[in-house]
Amino acid sequence: MKRDVIIACDFASREATLAFLDKFTDVKPFVKIGMELYYAEGPEIVREIKRRGHKIFLDLKLHDIPNTVKKAMAVLRNLDVDVTNLHAAGTTAMMKAAIEGLTREDGTRPLLIAVTQLTSTDQEAMENDLLIKEPIDQVVMHYAETAKNAGLDGVVCSPLEAGKVHDRCGKQFLTVTPGVRFADGDVGDQKRVMTPAAAREIGSDFIVVGRPITAAEDPVAAYKRCVREFVGE
Ligand code: C5P
Repeated sequence: MKRDVIIACDFASREATLAFLDKFTDVKPFVKIGMELYYAEGPEIVREIKRRGHKIFLDLKLHDIPNTVKKAMAVLRNLDVDVTNLHAAGTTAMMKAAIEGLTREDGTRPLLIAVTQLTSTDQEAMENDLLIKEPIDQVVMHYAETAKNAGLDGVVCSPLEAGKVHDRCGKQFLTVTPGVRFADGDVGDQKRVMTPAAAREIGSDFIVVGRPITAAEDPVAAYKRCVREFVGE
């Protein structure tokens, strides 16, 4: 898949999501559906957005014993999403089981990417709560490598880590990066941010952009600006 902008559809209901997507008449953006919307509306919202012609990143971050994740992925594969994800912390056995579950009878499957350490986890929380003593960037790189060795297609990471992930895991290993802001925009609660153009420079394959588009006065114009700056078209 080529470089693209993914809009984080962090809405609480079908109505709010579809009202937002209705604004896009001449383009069908790639969208991310997260836990909030999925738990509120169930799998039908995924089918409905897919029917409208959007590519979908289903961001449910699975993390359980390998057998349970395999069976859950076998259900998700029928939703025909383009990308889905899990926590690399579930271990190699869980990631391999996830791929097995996600693979359809004809051998095709959605792309599967891993969350390494959540960007909300800092060094202190990792050391005190998770008893992981290594520097966080080493931990992130190790999880990325583990995901690659398990057969996954990429990781969700900060745009600041995308270059390093590619150096370590190869150019083909996808980096999907949230934490993107326009140079003249609000940072909000994101701590480490980058502009779409800088994310492109550093080699992000996909940027996930929420509020700079969803809360913009003109979301379609904001989306198109983002695509111009990131994809360069
Ligand atoms: O509104 P904003 O652009 O900050 O939205 C970013 C999206 O990416 C949200 O859906 C958020 O949950 C998600 N995300 C993130 N940081 C991560 C992983 C996911 O911001 N490390």
